[in-house]
Amino acid sequence: MAYQNINVEISDNVALIRLNRPDALNALNSKLLEELTAALADADGNDKVRCIVITGSDKAFAAGADIKEMSQKGFVEVYHDNLFAAPAAEISEIRKPIIAAVSGYALGGGCELAMACDFIICAENAKFGQPEINLGVIAGIGGTQRLTRFVGKSKAMDMNLTGRFMDAEEAERSGLVSRVVPAAKLIPEAMSAAKKIAERSQIAVKAAKEAVNRSYETTLQEGLQYERRLFHALFATEDQKEGMAAFLEKREPQFRDK
Ligand code: HXC
Repeated sequence: MAYQNINVEISDNVALIRLNRPDALNALNSKLLEELTAALADADGNDKVRCIVITGSDKAFAAGADIKEMSQKGFVEVYHDNLFAAPAAEISEIRKPIIAAVSGYALGGGCELAMACDFIICAENAKFGQPEINLGVIAGIGGTQRLTRFVGKSKAMDMNLTGRFMDAEEAERSGLVSRVVPAAKLIPEAMSAAKKIAERSQIAVKAAKEAVNRSYETTLQEGLQYERRLFHALFATEDQKEGMAAFLEKREPQFRDK
């Protein structure tokens, strides 16, 4: 499929998806979201892809949902069409790890897209925010829910009520992002993390992603039980034998996803 609003490059078993609407700071219009979810589904089903990176431009990861497109819509239309429900659900169905590599603005739906990924690496110039309040609405795909789990109630309230932006340093301190790097190192750093993941057993990688995500959905005891059962189940894989044998034989493991 030829895309107009994103670019996709596959190298070293990593799909690098770049949002590409520079004139609108990568605002998420319906066409871009359609292309992004198609590219993600494609990457998830492609055996050559073992990890996914989503990024934007130096100036903007994404400045939010497309305000021009939304401005003409009414309640009946957005409720009937369940605006943004489908892309949000489709992104959360992707089983391969997704890293958000954020430079510049990640606002509104852009911040929510980054948070829907498995973790966020950002550049020193990154700015995160949920400024929907300035438009007379609120966040619609996780800005009040995921952000609160990442940074706690006080900062999430502050950002959702005042619309203020959080810089990279505060984002790292608050647990929103996993790493901050100089802008020029953003893609190399994200690609290097993705390549590391791509070299691991994809069975264990999927289990790790599922287990961490489960912690948001259940009690501690249920989560620990879920983790332990997945841990036990991995002893049925050839990759567990290979990983442990390689350690003992002081060599690199050759995982076969079996
Ligand atoms: C449509 C947008 C846009 C957006 C920027 N542009 N953000 N178009 N939707 N979300 C367009 C501008 O209209 C402008 O187009 C061009 O991109 C460059 O933007 P400027 O404002 O000129 O750039 P700058 O002065 O550098 O300011 C950058 C900015 C500002 C601070 C990021 O653009 C901004 O505040 N954008 C809106 C951020 C926002 O409110 N996001 C939340 C959206 S609501 P022209 O044609 O004039 O050059 C949302 C709801 C989520 O996300 C619900 C679930 C998805």
